[in-house]
Amino acid sequence: MAKPDLMERVVNLCKRRGLVFPSSEIYGGFRSTWDYGPLGVLMKRNVKDAWWRSMVQLRDDVVGLDSAILMHPRVWEASGHVQAFTDPLVDCRNCKERFRADDLPPSGACPNCGAKDSFTEARQFNLMFKTFVGPVEDDASIAYLRPETAQGIFVNFLNVVNTSRKKPPFGIAQIGKAFRNEITPGNFLFRTREFEMMELEFFVPPEDGPKWFEYWCQERLGWFTDLGIPEDKLRLRPHEPDELSHYSAGTADVEFSYPWGWGELEGIANRTDFDLTQHAKFSGQDLSYYDQESDRRYVPHVIEPSAGADRAMLAFLLAAYHEEEVRGEKRTVLRLDPRLAPVTVAVLPLSRNEQLNPVAAEVADMVRPRFMIDVDDAGSIGRRYRRQDEVGTPLCVTVDFDTLDDRAVTVRDRDSMTQDRVPIDKLVAHLEDRLP
Ligand code: GAP
Repeated sequence: MAKPDLMERVVNLCKRRGLVFPSSEIYGGFRSTWDYGPLGVLMKRNVKDAWWRSMVQLRDDVVGLDSAILMHPRVWEASGHVQAFTDPLVDCRNCKERFRADDLPPSGACPNCGAKDSFTEARQFNLMFKTFVGPVEDDASIAYLRPETAQGIFVNFLNVVNTSRKKPPFGIAQIGKAFRNEITPGNFLFRTREFEMMELEFFVPPEDGPKWFEYWCQERLGWFTDLGIPEDKLRLRPHEPDELSHYSAGTADVEFSYPWGWGELEGIANRTDFDLTQHAKFSGQDLSYYDQESDRRYVPHVIEPSAGADRAMLAFLLAAYHEEEVRGEKRTVLRLDPRLAPVTVAVLPLSRNEQLNPVAAEVADMVRPRFMIDVDDAGSIGRRYRRQDEVGTPLCVTVDFDTLDDRAVTVRDRDSMTQDRVPIDKLVAHLEDRLP
């Protein structure tokens, strides 16, 4: 399939099947913002749960946090965001469109109107959204919507150390909304002004920074392949020195092969002691760590794997989307890992029938507490299989007329399309064997 087509088809599928809708659509939409529909919210939750499971639940060296979006404005002075979280902005004098100067084509022509040498001088544009806290809108009441969740972790470093008995190397993980006034949002969920981040700040003795940086690069790459993104669609790209963020001594991006080319999926940065040192300076609090074993006090260095939940969901969708021909008919199938699929089991009575429906309801009630299910009795069974295939449902359970006699159902596999007959009283155990 041609690559631009792939993006268009995934966007259409998301709209048509209730994964992602354009935000405020009845008002004509709102500038690259998106809403997650009934299936989308399930899938995004699965992406975040898979991250949390791997980063927090399965480790004994990481704890979780959920810090506030609105923080003391000094946080953003200390972190360097007020001064340095900027993109270079230019206007085309001809068509008045705005662009990021570092996104312009080498030809120098305006991407919108084609005018040559029409750009204004680049000026720095701060990406943080400002708001006012309280009823008075003056400089003293300015607050920012956080542009990353990381700072909520740094300002809670002491609280966590004092309450969790963790000592470096250990990490604090957080999932939450972040906001950036991007100059050029676009490419569906890839770059938006409001998005969700999944960030880990991993605190280590200073001399161990490089070792842990390597460790987290491999670990994060492995997370995406384990969840089904093919290895040839992923790569690690170290940043050039002139690309590094103001806080970073080294960054590598996990890149994905998007339909428009390679691009960032996740960043892994060696933030050194930059943030803790800055917050110590600005807050007057001692944020160093005393290691009893070595009788040594130091400011931990930080390795940060930082991923976007929405961008990850886009990559999982793009990698999973397939079209194929089955017995002369086109089939669209999302080959999502079952851990990510919005619905794990569909319960389908063969036809809408007063004898089959109560048995289907009984089967649904048995399976529902254990798996996210969908019950669908509308239309031909073939059409209903296709509808489940295109949203990635791994298994369909069909209740047919034989079920009334043999108390067994058919379990149909999304990928191989094979069918197994399973007794109803063994169904949950059978599904548990085949699904996470
Ligand atoms: N704390 C580190 C940090 O903020 P970043 O590279 O700016 O690093 C991390 O962002 C990740 O967040 C990116 O790799 C991407 O997945 C996601 N992300 C960043 N800006 C985004 C945006 N405007 N829309 C969607 N996701 C975004």
